Amino acid sequence: MNVNRKVQTLDEFTIQQLRDFPQATGELSHLLRNIGLAAKRVNTEVNKAGLVDILGDFGTVNVQGEEVKKLDIYANDQFTGVLKHGIACAGIASEELDDFVAFDDAKSAKSKYVCLFDPLDGSSNIDVNVSIGTIFGVYRRKTEVGTVVTQEDFLQPGNQQVAAGYIVYGSSTMLVYATRRGVNGFTLDPSIGEWTLSHPDIKCPETGKIYSVNHGNFFQYEKAIQDYIQICQKKDKTNGGPYTQRYIGSMVSDVHRNLIKGGIFMYPGTIDKPKGKLRLLYECNPFAFIVTVAGGKATNGKENILDIQPTELHQRSPMFIGSTQMMEELETYL
Ligand code: AHG
Ligand code: MN
Ligand code: MN
Repeated sequence: MNVNRKVQTLDEFTIQQLRDFPQATGELSHLLRNIGLAAKRVNTEVNKAGLVDILGDFGTVNVQGEEVKKLDIYANDQFTGVLKHGIACAGIASEELDDFVAFDDAKSAKSKYVCLFDPLDGSSNIDVNVSIGTIFGVYRRKTEVGTVVTQEDFLQPGNQQVAAGYIVYGSSTMLVYATRRGVNGFTLDPSIGEWTLSHPDIKCPETGKIYSVNHGNFFQYEKAIQDYIQICQKKDKTNGGPYTQRYIGSMVSDVHRNLIKGGIFMYPGTIDKPKGKLRLLYECNPFAFIVTVAGGKATNGKENILDIQPTELHQRSPMFIGSTQMMEELETYL
C-alpha cells in the first residue's frame, strides 16, 4: 500500500509542538482544534452559498451600521457555539455582537484564553462567489482563572496575543495560524475533512510587487498616501517595479496573497472616516500579529498596530501591512 507519510494534520502538528513544551497544558491546541472545527462547518455552508436560501441579506444592521448577511450570523453562531462548548475558551468578542460574551459555565470559567473574531470577512463578496474568510486572535485573560471574564480581558493590545490566524474560503480552504514560534498554513483536504500542513513556516517576502488599496477612495486619502500610491504606479524596473495592483475587497484574501507573494495592503483613513473601516480587535490585530511573526510589518501610519491600547471593542483603525521594505518606503511618505 502506498501511504503518503508527508501528510501532517493540524492535530498532529499542534501535539508535536506541545512535546517541545512539557509545561504546556494543551489548552491552546484544543482551542485551535475548535476553531478548525467551526471553520469546517462554515466552509460547508459557504460552498453551498449559491444554492440555498441562506444567501442574501439577513435584513438586520450590525453594530457597525452595516447590513448583515445570513452567513455572517451562521458563522458567528458556529464559532461562538463551538468555543462555548469546548473547554479552552472563557469568552469571546465578535464583530457581529454588540458586547463580549462571557462563558459562565464552570468549565469555561476555568479556561485561560479569550478569543476575538470577525466570523465572516469580505461578506459583500459572498453573493458573487469571491473568496471570503474568518479572522481570529487569542489572548491570555487578565482576570483570574475560575472567575467570569470582563471587558478588561478583551481590551488588550495586539502584542499580547498568544496566537492569531485566519481561514480563507477560496479556491481551496486554508487555515493559517501564528504563535510567537512561527506561522503555518493548513489546507483542508475535502476528501478526508482534515486540515493538512501545506505551508510550513510561512515567511513574508522582504519585498514584493503587489500593492492593494481601494483606488475608488483615492481623492479621500491624505496627500502623503496619494503620493505613495502614485509612486507605486510609477515604479519601473530601475526601482523595483513595475508594481501591480490587486484588491479583492476581502481583507483575508488580499493579505493572504501578499503574505505569500510579498506586497503591501493599505486601508487608510478617509475624509469621511478618518479611522478607516477596519476593526482594530477583529481584523487589524490578528493580521498584524501574523505578518509580524512572518517577518513583515503593520502600522496605523503612526505607530505599530500591535502597540495600540484599545479603548473600545469595536474601534476602527487605519491599516498598512506587508513586506518590510515596502512598508519602510511607505513610511518615508507618511
Ligand atoms: P466585513 O465583511 O467583515 O465587514 O469586512 C470587509 C472589509 C475587509 O475585508 C475589506 O478589506 C474591506 O472591508 C473592503 O472595504 P472597501 O469595499 O471599502 O474597499
Ligand atoms: Mn471583516
Ligand atoms: Mn465580518
